[in-house]
Amino acid sequence: MTCSLVIVENPQAVAIAAAQRIISVLHAAIERSGVARLALAGGRTPRELYALLTHTTYRHALPWNRIEWFWGDERCVPPDHPESNYRLVAETLLSVLSPPPQQVHRMLTERNPDEAAALYEATIRSVFSLAPDEIPRFDLVLLGMGTDCHIASLFPHTRALSEERRLVVSNWVPRLAERRLTLTPRVLQAAQTILILVTGSEKAEAVRRALTEPTNIDDCPAHLLRLARGDVVWLLNSAAASQTTASSGPCPPVP
Ligand code: 6PG
Repeated sequence: MTCSLVIVENPQAVAIAAAQRIISVLHAAIERSGVARLALAGGRTPRELYALLTHTTYRHALPWNRIEWFWGDERCVPPDHPESNYRLVAETLLSVLSPPPQQVHRMLTERNPDEAAALYEATIRSVFSLAPDEIPRFDLVLLGMGTDCHIASLFPHTRALSEERRLVVSNWVPRLAERRLTLTPRVLQAAQTILILVTGSEKAEAVRRALTEPTNIDDCPAHLLRLARGDVVWLLNSAAASQTTASSGPCPPVP
């Protein structure tokens, strides 16, 4: 496992650094096995990145039709809802790249949350051709982080943080008073590469906690990345990194 920081000036530079890293990781996966399996993030941060990937520089950099598209988490809203993570990716990225529909694996939020989670888990098992107890190793998982250190929909002090059997669960989030769908910790931790994009001074405290506080996953779910099997790359702008003395390079040693 490696952990590294890339700290750049502004959100545009974060998007560029992320796009370059995504192309490199997915290209290597396709070279290796003919396919790349990618789990995408929702929220506001990745919007600029997704739009950038449709620009000529990146749009022609990959055989995008060799990718299996997944989501790391989803809100329990219809796929055309403004809050939908699927809609974010569909309207910024997929509408331009037009991958084969059978390779776009949306969480079926029109079903009840537990059913949607079970169906998504079955889809993952099928696409990865997993043995009964095998964990999928996504080639790339893209994450954001909330001001409370949550990643995907693994929020502090929620049940999903202690899930050790399932790959996908529905997770009640008291702070939001809503249910979310999310990949579980061990699926995130199994990924070959995790890119976590964090921008904005409002995230600086969470970044400081995630990178420098003693491990307490229940309090700061981003700490679960410390147990990742693959490469973890934090892509930060200087505002998000402003409460740490860290600079680009290896992550600070875990206290
Ligand atoms: C979601 C995301 C979530 C997000 C963080 C950061 O569904 O919202 O998966 O984990 O990455 O909440 O969100 P912003 O990028 O909007 O700050």
